[in-house]
Amino acid sequence: MENIDPALVPTKKLYTGAEMPTIGLGTFASDNYNPEQVSNAVRGAAAFGYRHFDCAAVYANEHKIGEVFQELFSKGIRREELWITSKLWNDMHKYDDAIKSCKQTLVDLQVDYLDLYLIHWPFPNFHAPGCDVNARNPDAIPYIHANYMETWKALEHLVDEGLVRHIGTSNMSIPKMELLLRDARIKPAVNEMEIHPHFQQPEFFQYLVDHDIQPIGFSPLGSPSRPERDKTADDTVDMEDPVILKAAKNHGVHPSAICLKWAVQRGQVTIPFSIKERQYKSNMLAILDDPLTDDEMEEISKIDKNCRLIKGQVFLWKANQSWEDLWDLNGEVTPA
Ligand SMILES: NC(=O)c1ccc[n+]([C@@H]2O[C@H](COP(=O)([O-])OP(=O)(O)OC[C@H]3O[C@@H](n4cnc5c(N)ncnc54)[C@H](OP(=O)(O)O)[C@@H]3O)[C@@H](O)[C@H]2O)c1
Repeated sequence: MENIDPALVPTKKLYTGAEMPTIGLGTFASDNYNPEQVSNAVRGAAAFGYRHFDCAAVYANEHKIGEVFQELFSKGIRREELWITSKLWNDMHKYDDAIKSCKQTLVDLQVDYLDLYLIHWPFPNFHAPGCDVNARNPDAIPYIHANYMETWKALEHLVDEGLVRHIGTSNMSIPKMELLLRDARIKPAVNEMEIHPHFQQPEFFQYLVDHDIQPIGFSPLGSPSRPERDKTADDTVDMEDPVILKAAKNHGVHPSAICLKWAVQRGQVTIPFSIKERQYKSNMLAILDDPLTDDEMEEISKIDKNCRLIKGQVFLWKANQSWEDLWDLNGEVTPA
């Protein structure tokens, strides 16, 4: 496969006017791959034409990815040609911790600014990486808006200092976003959220579009290799859906390509993960040509099963709750 000219990769314009590549490489390896394998994928993907990388402190591989960014710069790629996202982990929500954590990410990634910095989850509840879904932090607390605003103010300060170009949210709900939009000095530029054909979040998606906040869809392929502990009997498999399979046959591609074409044509930025060369190359190629027809887009819009895969159980803060309580399904922030 020939390398792609990064200039051919479509972008989404954020409310600031900045252009964000519509496809980025995810870097969360679940339990499956080590930091070196992920950083090798970043190297290979960058050589192929990727310029957008979705990182996070909790993925515990930013130090290895930073080595690859340095290599890219030494080969002549300029910092401004890359779009680098990172995220603040849940145990660092206090104002000073958030500043400290961002600075550590800058050291690890070996860059002097981030294009985008997200609050990874709206809950400050620490849980050990890889813990079981039934694990609970005895000190866990609900969403407390004043606390979230303390964290947000730290992110605003990072923008003021020039360490971060854009700030955003992740794993939010409309009720939480309403509060943030009421109180933020700097509006979030994006919201990163789970989106795949079986979990389209149409209402939240439209809300974001209406507020000029760019949706970024994670787990765009339905996260087929997520750890067993994150799977439940009711979970459905996007890439086995008959509508996806039919479109894949029509286009002569793997079902993964249909999920990504749909994502980009619908309007979200997409960040599929793979360390496998064949996969990350074909993921990029999928969005560059042979778009889905209007009929195919329409058919896929009808296979939403409201099937959230990344439920967030470990963030629950009291007994007898269910994961739905994290997502404010009643239209208000779930009371403490
Ligand atoms: N903000 C958040 O809270 C949050 C949460 C989750 C994820 N994310 C971000 O979103 C990224 C992507 O999410 P994800 O990793 O959960 O799910 P995903 O991208 O939907 O699925 C990734 C898996 O799909 C398989 N795959 C990738 N390309 C393929 C292809 N062309 N053909 C067939 N299979 C393919 C690979 O499995 P094998 O490795 O088995 O081949 C890969 O591990 C993460 O890496 C992370 O950066 C953010």
